Amino acid sequence: MSEYEHLHVDRDDRGVWTISFDLADRPVNVFNEALLLELTRALDQLEQDDSTKALVVRSAKEQGFVVGADVQQIQNLKTTEEAEFGSKAGQDLFQRIADLKIPSVAAIHGNCLGGGLEIALACQYRIVRDDASTKLGLPETQLGVIPGWGGTQRLPRQIGLQKAAPMILTGSTMNAAKAKQAGLTDAIASTDAFDRDITAFVDRLLAGKTPDKHSPKLRDRLLDGTSIGRVFVMKMARKQIAKQAEHYPALTAALNAIETGLKQGMATGLAKERVEFSRVLFTPTCRNLLGLFFQREKARSAQTWVTSMSEQRPVVQTIAVLGAGTMGAGIAQLAATSGFQVILKDIDEATVQKGMQQITSLTEKGVKKGALKRQDADKALAAITPTSEMEPVTKADLVIEAIVERMDVKQKVFRELDEQLPAHVLLVSNTSSLSISEMASVTERGDRVAGLHFFNPVHKLPLVEVVRATDTSDATIDALVNVVKTLGKTPLVVAEGPGFLVNRILFPYFDEAVRLVVEGHPIAEIDREAKRFGMPMGPLELMDTVGIDVGADVASHLPMEGVEDSPTPKHLAEMVAQGRRGQKTGKGFYDYKAGKRGEPMAASASGGTPTLPDPIDFDGEMLSGVQQRLILSLINAAGQCLHDGIVQEPWMVDLGMVLGTGFAPFRGGPLRLAETWGRDRLGKRLIELSDLCGPRFQPSSYFTESDTHTPASHNPVGL
Ligand code: NAI
Repeated sequence: MSEYEHLHVDRDDRGVWTISFDLADRPVNVFNEALLLELTRALDQLEQDDSTKALVVRSAKEQGFVVGADVQQIQNLKTTEEAEFGSKAGQDLFQRIADLKIPSVAAIHGNCLGGGLEIALACQYRIVRDDASTKLGLPETQLGVIPGWGGTQRLPRQIGLQKAAPMILTGSTMNAAKAKQAGLTDAIASTDAFDRDITAFVDRLLAGKTPDKHSPKLRDRLLDGTSIGRVFVMKMARKQIAKQAEHYPALTAALNAIETGLKQGMATGLAKERVEFSRVLFTPTCRNLLGLFFQREKARSAQTWVTSMSEQRPVVQTIAVLGAGTMGAGIAQLAATSGFQVILKDIDEATVQKGMQQITSLTEKGVKKGALKRQDADKALAAITPTSEMEPVTKADLVIEAIVERMDVKQKVFRELDEQLPAHVLLVSNTSSLSISEMASVTERGDRVAGLHFFNPVHKLPLVEVVRATDTSDATIDALVNVVKTLGKTPLVVAEGPGFLVNRILFPYFDEAVRLVVEGHPIAEIDREAKRFGMPMGPLELMDTVGIDVGADVASHLPMEGVEDSPTPKHLAEMVAQGRRGQKTGKGFYDYKAGKRGEPMAASASGGTPTLPDPIDFDGEMLSGVQQRLILSLINAAGQCLHDGIVQEPWMVDLGMVLGTGFAPFRGGPLRLAETWGRDRLGKRLIELSDLCGPRFQPSSYFTESDTHTPASHNPVGL
């Protein structure tokens, strides 16, 4: 049956058909048109075979089952009609599997996401391989759309509304154990004997033995299994999304489709799913989220950053981390759980052991949450060699320095490393504000020195800035981009400059927030205005989380580009002197009790009336005075960074800010927003703000030189 390019179709002597997905020329399976057409043909064949006893669908790729529909093809849909047609075609195809008169089984390993889970749900049974890579979920709302191939209908029917609604609304995934608990899978297969377990499962079905039905608890039966219970759960779900729904229309759309299906039956539900899918697909939010998806893909490809490769990519298997403090411990833990051998060095045994404790506790938390399996956690911990000696460090292919933020100390360490380590070893610094080139200058290997700027907390934040210093070679950047990818993060290659990209853009925003506090504006209101704009957290809350001392340190290294004195460094230093170092000390801009935020600190002594511009309408959206001061200062700095060549393309700024700071993803990033609101209009408003508030608002060249970076070059996918 070799007429298939993207499938393996096999019928064994028991009469069991196995369709294995194996999309040609791609590392993972996605459902694109070509694959779905072949699947249609395979089903035609199967339906004509009267002696068929069962169907198994699975993946022939070790990487996993199916990661979803081809996002590029979703993005290419041009009209509502086209979108509805695409949704209906998938729904109908999967319905054919659901309608089969023989048992159908999805055998799942690795990622089973989006369309992958939708086809699995259309099968009568699911068997899931039990290992850390297995993840089941419907992440569509994260891209601004909703599941369009029956997911909004079948998931609630399979696991109940209570579990299905949050899974669809947050795009969260389940591992094998959770899937079993929730009734999403009927059986769990062992990692080593996946094929054998699938065969045994199907044999039992053929012998007429069906797996035990999942039996939910009484409370769940009442809430999921009665219409009155479901009305209650639906009401709660709508309440939970109320605040985000304005910016993320897919959330309401998903609930609408789910609700219709549960009230009016599957067929009406599927019709509603198609309508809602096609409606949200063309919203600006969806376009921006799709844009960010492609940008992230692009950032993860070394070719984006490296044009000429003269040498071979340096291989990195062993990473030495110098400094076992907050950042060093976080980096070492991430590297070990990502499969690297790690050497963790600090100045003495006691300090290294403190770092190891931090690593152990972080790893144990991962096990508790189900993110890490016990044996993987043990393997990761065993992969770390703690030391206070230099000798083990000489075994590394890459050294990441995360010691105190002082140039003299860093230079001393770099000199020592250069003298003692073989010439091929890459040396990088995690500095947040110092010059990498100055560190490189004390070594004989400037081409192999760079920056890797991780964000705190390392395990949570998805971005790493890869800093290219004066002499850094392409081969080094190539190797580092790949290391960052292996660590599960998105790399963004940036040029040197104070604060690199993210901190440099974030600082004027922080500065403006602190100025407002100093001018006497209520703290909670400043944060509220930022969140109303779409920030996940207000700037003052965020500073409390990062640490006021860390902020004070950055503030002292990042002067306001020489335009205007800022009261911020002094204000932050005073807070530090009063013991207000942020959440970690229970006091910052707010008081904290047991980790919970309480009252904001008393208004500034110098408090008067803050200077606030009048509200202004940008593209139909009213921006308050506080919002203008916060957001326009950030956008202005973003434009300046681009102009100064910290990165080459506007999308790089946008991706960096969304991943590095959580900048309102539905807006697509600060420069994308500048294009939406109009650069001319923003430039004029910045001039008005600079007259009113001070010269720091002088528009950057991005707003005055209108021929640079036209909107066409803004987005790599032409959104
Ligand atoms: P930290 O103070 O928690 O840890 C620094 C560690 O380095 C200490 O354990 C110290 O004993 C050790 N150390 C000092 N000299 C050493 C040497 N010669 N060899 C080996 N170990 C040595 O500092 P943190 O916060 O982890 O920062 C480390 C670096 O990461 C700094 O460059 C900082 O700017 C940067 N960074 C910090 C972020 C943060 O939020 N804390 C975020 C991003 C970067």
